[in-house]
This record gives sequence, structure tokens and C-alpha cells, in this order.
Amino acid sequence: MRVLVTGGAGYIGSHALRALLRAGHSPVAYDNLSRGHRAAVPKDVPLIEADIRDTDVLTAALKDNGIDCVMHFAAFAYVGESVELPLLYYNNNSRGTLSVLEAIDRARTPRLVFSSTCATYGNPPQNPIVETTVQRPINPYGMSKLVSEYMISDYAASRSDFSYAALRYFNVAGSSFDGEIGEDHDPETHLIPVILQAALGRREKVTVFGDDYPTPDGTCIRDYIHVEDLVSAHVRVMEALKPSDRRIYNLGIGRGHSVREIIDAARRVTGVDFKVEIGPRRAGDPASLYSDPSRIHEELGWRAQHTDIEETIRSAYQWFSKNPNGYGDAR
Ligand SMILES: NC(=O)c1ccc[n+]([C@@H]2O[C@H](COP(=O)([O-])OP(=O)(O)OC[C@H]3O[C@@H](n4cnc5c(N)ncnc54)[C@H](O)[C@@H]3O)[C@@H](O)[C@H]2O)c1
Repeated sequence: MRVLVTGGAGYIGSHALRALLRAGHSPVAYDNLSRGHRAAVPKDVPLIEADIRDTDVLTAALKDNGIDCVMHFAAFAYVGESVELPLLYYNNNSRGTLSVLEAIDRARTPRLVFSSTCATYGNPPQNPIVETTVQRPINPYGMSKLVSEYMISDYAASRSDFSYAALRYFNVAGSSFDGEIGEDHDPETHLIPVILQAALGRREKVTVFGDDYPTPDGTCIRDYIHVEDLVSAHVRVMEALKPSDRRIYNLGIGRGHSVREIIDAARRVTGVDFKVEIGPRRAGDPASLYSDPSRIHEELGWRAQHTDIEETIRSAYQWFSKNPNGYGDAR
């Protein structure tokens, strides 16, 4: 299939481009490089440098390339920033998705695979989280994605020749196993990269935001899915989409790791006893979030393969050790 990958120069989008190539598809990257890196896009994949909110350019990209499916990763994804700048998030993420739908409508593109998030569940009433768990986001980032899910669902109801999947990722981690691409966010807020930067001496210490949560060791519990598993699920889901399909899946490994467990695993992987300090809780951090990923397994036979947290951390460590400055900011 010919696949337009919005956010293709970002962390997950760039891994998706490679997974699509490996599976014999023809991806085109579409990214405004606001937070991505040109060097993350494989040389043989065309990059359209434009904003998803430019509906005319996006429509032309869909029509000119005969696109069969849009994988829509482009978004801003910092919870803290979304609290400070909610309108930026509604503009880029929700309005951005509206523009993607308008372009899809004009070009009559038949499929969409959308990056949603466990942040749409907010503070869930129970774990593990199933797809029918109530979605009540507790920050503008999660809400901007939930609004997008609603828009997509309403649009899909109006078109019988259209199918979509909304994939709700838990915490995405790790890097491609060949060490070619990885995670390069500025600022970096994700736990594993932050820890590895400390292990590599690029940051003085790791701050744990609260150790008095109602969890076994007092630190927050999250579900870490390897980025290679995550993108393989995208390819599987896209290939399974039939006209009129509406699919919603959690993407996680189905078990949680606490912040302390991640720190201990990273110490074992790196052999470095980096400094850790306990800080106050961060507003809006639920104590525990982990998925029940059984729906995608039951319906498509897919499940995560790289569920050993040390393997995930090791793959990220390989990238960070080889690329201490990330892509070197040559956007
Ligand atoms: N990383 C995670 O753990 C995680 C978890 C849940 C959901 N997600 C979602 O996955 C998607 C990808 O996340 P990521 O970690 O790869 O982020 P990222 O910042 O690395 O990649 C996002 C890419 O989108 C591009 N972009 C942003 N706004 C754009 C616009 N208006 N027009 C064109 N391009 C634009 C950026 O330049 C960047 O290359 C996001 O939608 C995010 O919300 C990520």
C-alpha cells in the first residue's frame, strides 16, 4: 500500500517508515520538522516538508501519491506543555486532525490509522485498562487526542468506504535494533531516555516524581511497549482494515513497571550507579496505568514480542551511547 506517514520525521513515525518498507509498502513522510529530524527519514523515502494544518498541501500529497492509508502520528505530546499552552495543543493536535480528515475527505482516501494515547483514559477507575474503560482525560494533551478520536469516529460514520483504527499507546520506549534511529526529543521528558542521559553523564541526576503513591514501592507504574512492537502493530492493523472497519486497540505489553524497577533495570544494563533524587509528585500523574492488550491479540493475533524491560532499555542505550547528541539537531 502507499502510506502517507504524518510525523514521519519523529521518534515513532520514523520507526514506522522502516517497518512499512520492510513489509513491502511504499511510505511517504509528511512532517513540518517542528519537532522531528530530517536524518530520521530513510534516504529512499520522500519527505514532504509541510504542516498537516495546510489542508491544500496535504490533499495534494494524498492525491498526487495515490495514498491508500494515512498513518497520522504528527502531534505535540508533552503533558506539561499542554497544561501551560492548551490552545497550542488543541490547535496542533485537534485542529491538525480535523485538517487530516478534510484532506482525506477531499482525496477520498480509504484508510486512517491514528496515534491515540492512554492519556485519554486519565485516572482510570481500574487497571488493567480495557478499550471500554471510561475516557476522562486529566490534561489538555489527552483531551486533544480524545477530541480527535471523536472527530474520526463521526467522520467514519458518514462514509461507508472508509475504515480507521485508533491505537491507544501506553509508554513507548526503545530504539530500532540496528541502532540506526532512536529517540531525540528536546526537552526530553520520557523516563528511560532521561535515565540513560544520567547514566551517560549528560544529566546530573534522575528525579523521581513522588515515592508515596499507593503502589508496592511507592513510585508510579507504567506499561512500556517497545517502539518496534508498536510500529509492527500499525502495519498489521493497516493490512487488516476492511471498508467500514472501526477498530480501537490498546497497545501495551499488559504489565506495569514502577519507576524504581526501571531505574534498577537501567543500572543493570548500563553498569552505572547514576544519582537519583526523590522529588515531589507531579500534578496529573496517575499512580498506575497499564493495559489489557488482549483485544488486538484476539482479533488480529498480534501481541508484543519484546516484553523484557532490560532488552527495551538496552536498545535505547545502544542509540544514546552511539548518538549522545541525538541527530545533532541537523533538522
Ligand atoms: N512517545 C510516546 O510514548 C507516545 C505515547 C502515546 C502516544 N504517542 C503519540 O504518538 C505520536 C508520535 O509521537 P512521538 O513520540 O514520535 O513524537 P515526536 O515529537 O517525536 O514526533 C512527532 C512528529 O510530528 C511532527 N509534527 C508535529 N506537528 C506537526 C504539524 N502540525 N505538521 C506536520 N508535522 C508535525 C513533528 O515535527 C515530529 O516529527 C504522537 O501523536 C503522540 O501523541 C506517543
